[in-house]
Amino acid sequence: MSNPSILILPGDGIGPEVMDQVTRIIDWFGAKRDLAFDVSTDLVGGAAYDAHGTPLHDDTMAKAQEVDAVLLGAVGGPKYDDLDFSVKPERGLLRLRKEMDLYANLRPAQCFDALADFSSLKKDIVAGLDIMIVRELTSGVYFGEPRGIFEEGNERVGINTQRYTESEIERAARSAFELAMRRNKKVCSMEKANVMESGILWREVVTKVCEEYPEVELSHMYADNGAMQLVRAPKQFDVIVTDNLFGDILSDCAAMLTGSLGMLPSASLGAPMANGRPKAMYEPVHGSAPDIAGQGKANPIACMLSFAMALRYSFDQGDEAARLEAAIEKVLADGARTGDLMGPEGGTPLSTTEMGDVILAALDASL
Ligand code: IPM
Ligand code: MG
Repeated sequence: MSNPSILILPGDGIGPEVMDQVTRIIDWFGAKRDLAFDVSTDLVGGAAYDAHGTPLHDDTMAKAQEVDAVLLGAVGGPKYDDLDFSVKPERGLLRLRKEMDLYANLRPAQCFDALADFSSLKKDIVAGLDIMIVRELTSGVYFGEPRGIFEEGNERVGINTQRYTESEIERAARSAFELAMRRNKKVCSMEKANVMESGILWREVVTKVCEEYPEVELSHMYADNGAMQLVRAPKQFDVIVTDNLFGDILSDCAAMLTGSLGMLPSASLGAPMANGRPKAMYEPVHGSAPDIAGQGKANPIACMLSFAMALRYSFDQGDEAARLEAAIEKVLADGARTGDLMGPEGGTPLSTTEMGDVILAALDASL
C-alpha cells in the first residue's frame, strides 16, 4: 500500500520557516516510527500570486482535493495589501476551505503549564485550560450572497450577508457534539439570537441535534457575552460551537489566553473521502507575521501541533500525536523559548531552527 499523502503549502511570511521545521518532524516519523508520508509542496497566497498571478493555482487546488491531508503555513503580507480583492492571498485560503468543503474548524486552546505566566490573564484563571472551539468554516458572512460594494443613489454601500442553512448548522453542531463526547461532554453554542434571525435558527438547530447526544450538557450564550466569559472564566468551557465570523474572533481571543498565538494549531475537517479519511487541512492559527518573517525568530510549535492534529484526525495515530505533543511540552518545561515566549526575566531566545533541534532531540529521547 502506498504511503499516506500530504500536500505542504508553506505560503507567506513566517509560513516557510515554520514549515521547514515541521518537515523535519515529518521526516523523523518516517525514519524512526515507520510512518512515512508522500510529501509534496506547492504555493499558496502571495507566493502563488507572485508566481502565477493567482493566490491558488487550479492545479494546486486539484492536488489539495486528492491528498490525504493539506498542511498550510500562513498567507498574506503588506506587500499584497493593495491587490485587487479577488487575488488577495487570503482568497487562496478561503478557496481551499470552500472547495474542499472543510466545514468544521477545530481550534483547541490549551494552556501549557510552563507558559501559564505568559498569559495576559492571571495564572490561576488559565492554568490547565483546555477548550476546543468548533468554528463553522464554509458559510456565514464569509461566503453569503449578495456581497459587494454597490452604488446606491449618490453613495456606495458595502454588503455582506450572513446566511446559514439548517444542514450547514447541523453538520457543524454534530462535529462539536462528537468531540464533546470524547471530552468533558459540555457544549456551549454561541450566536446573536437576540439580534439575528440566523442566530435564532442556529440555536434551534443546535438544540435539535443535541437530542441525539443526551449525555452532553448544552448551553447557549450570546457571542458578545461569550467573548466576555472567555476572558473572565475560560475554564467554564469545554467545547464551544459557533459560526464562521464569531469563531474567527472568539478563537483569537481564546488563543491569546494561552500565552502566545505561536502555540495554537487548528484542523479543518470535511466529509469522509472514499478511503474513510476526512477531507482535511491543518494550519496554525497565527498569521504570516511579516514583522519577523525571514529572521529565524518565529515559533514553529503551532505548526508542529497542527501536524500532531493531522496524525490524530487524518491518520489515526493518536499515540504518535501524543508523543509529539509530549515532546513539545517537555522542551517548554525545560525552558526552551522562542522570542514570542520570552518573559520579563529575559534570556536568549531560541531561533526557529534551534526550537526544531530541541524538539527533535526530545522525540529521540521518547523512544
Ligand atoms: C483565520 C484567519 C483567516 C480568517 C483569514 C486569513 C482569511 O484570520 O484563519 O482565522 O479570517 O478566517
Ligand atoms: Mg482569524
